[in-house]
Amino acid sequence: MTALTIATQPIAGQKPGTSGLRKKTPVFMGPHYLQNFVQAIFDAIGGAAGKTFVLGGDGRYFNDSAAQIILKMAAANGASRVIVGQGAVLSTPAASHLIRLNKTDGGIIMSASHNPGGPEEDFGVKFNMGNGGPAPEAVTDAMYAITQTIAEYRISDAPDIDLNAVGRVTLDGMVVDVVDSVTDYAALMETLFDFPAIRAMFAGGFRMRFDAMCAVTGPYGTEILENRLGAAPGTVTHGTPLPDFGGMHPDPNPTWAHELMAEMFGADAPDFGAASDGDGDRNMVVGRGIYVSPSDSLAVLAANAHLAPGYARGLAGVARSMPTSAAADRVADALGIGKYETPTGWKFFGNLLDAGKATLCGEESFGTGSDHVREKDGLWAVLLWLNILAVRQQTVAQILAEHWAQFGRNYYSRHDFEAIATDKADAMVAALRASLTTLPGREIEGMQIEAADDFAYTDPVDGSTSARQGVRILFADGSRIVMRLSGTGTEGATLRVYLERYAPGPEGLDRDPQEALAPVIRAAHALADIAGFTGRTTPDVIT
Ligand code: G6P
Ligand code: ZN
Repeated sequence: MTALTIATQPIAGQKPGTSGLRKKTPVFMGPHYLQNFVQAIFDAIGGAAGKTFVLGGDGRYFNDSAAQIILKMAAANGASRVIVGQGAVLSTPAASHLIRLNKTDGGIIMSASHNPGGPEEDFGVKFNMGNGGPAPEAVTDAMYAITQTIAEYRISDAPDIDLNAVGRVTLDGMVVDVVDSVTDYAALMETLFDFPAIRAMFAGGFRMRFDAMCAVTGPYGTEILENRLGAAPGTVTHGTPLPDFGGMHPDPNPTWAHELMAEMFGADAPDFGAASDGDGDRNMVVGRGIYVSPSDSLAVLAANAHLAPGYARGLAGVARSMPTSAAADRVADALGIGKYETPTGWKFFGNLLDAGKATLCGEESFGTGSDHVREKDGLWAVLLWLNILAVRQQTVAQILAEHWAQFGRNYYSRHDFEAIATDKADAMVAALRASLTTLPGREIEGMQIEAADDFAYTDPVDGSTSARQGVRILFADGSRIVMRLSGTGTEGATLRVYLERYAPGPEGLDRDPQEALAPVIRAAHALADIAGFTGRTTPDVIT
């Protein structure tokens, strides 16, 4: 068996987005497409020779054959060892943990996260660094540059190896360790949370539903919730990962996790509901008859994390993405700990976590996590909620009500307008940007605009800057509109409109968010002329 050098040519459009390179699956399966990008990954990190990596994916269509290609390329590029999840499956947080646990030089994760999977749906590849976190922009920019000049890649002509059998094999001299996908991750969770307390809660009749949406978290949820914590068999639904996610759109939000929502708002709802996404890094949390917005979830977790053994010493700080509501900031202020506001994208939390500035991080896009790995972690958030529920012995609704009574309530919602023609979306954003300087002082919907800008971020650890990260319109009464275009889609543009309004209490803390936000929503439509540019008046997704 030999390492072959294959001549290739640059393929346009291999620019990693918010979270790696994502394309339609047939594009990824096209001639040299995956190979060019994987060679660019290896070249961008200074070559693979002598290095060790983790490899796994969310099990979507093409996951298995892509893994074989990547392994053969790692071998031909001189890598010494690759740790692969059984069946080439690893949740994104589990992959991040394996990178850290084994001190590897990084890892390749095959996923398009919450995007649908299948022969005509989405596929993706991203590289995580030795700290377990997504490659920073300097590295992804280097990958992109290499894809534009690439002339050859290296790949072994060895036969496929059996990735279903746990154990050690070699591939052209490279060690391949196939490991159980769940074991190490579950062990990590046991170090962070009070499993006996949660087990006692389940033994006492506490009922839960975890919707794995036919994606990667099924085996993780079954092992941890049912086998280790004693939740009733059947607690995990849609628990068998399928290459097309059973046709589900594995994005845990009220729109796509509608089965879970219906159950949690129906008769005989369980005490607690949760869902995760394709690759297991997102989470949605629902109480009986009450939805927890991701921004509120972050704030509640920050205020109560000390109840879990892994965080008993308190938090160094809390970080949130800019479009996420300021609810977590109020908790950080009350605790006297650091608070940080970053651009959208988990990679921006990496430096804060590595430097010990932030312990908890969260995003409105259903991501929450901590310094235990360098990715957001859906099951981790679910377990932290369970730990808090077990200690406080209250319902989700009671915990939220007490939280708002103490901190006030940041009413919050995100409205998404999907599959807009890119030119129309770009024109709308350009016009909005051009209007920003004229907005301060203007009154709309009875609210005074105080400031308007395009969010720019300077990383407090390495001083790097990121500009144009989202338009913000801030009102004198503390309300806020944020607009940006999604960086994770694969077709057309998705406009995200983030809406926030603060109610200090004690009155007015239990309104319907859409109703409480109505003037802010109307202002957003008027200021950006969403209908004029895009023809859209109603959002496709409301979170
Ligand atoms: C991924 C990233 C998150 C990000 C989210 C939304 O899940 O890991 O960090 O918040 O996408 O990104 P988008 O650009 O689509 O709003
Ligand atoms: Zn994801």
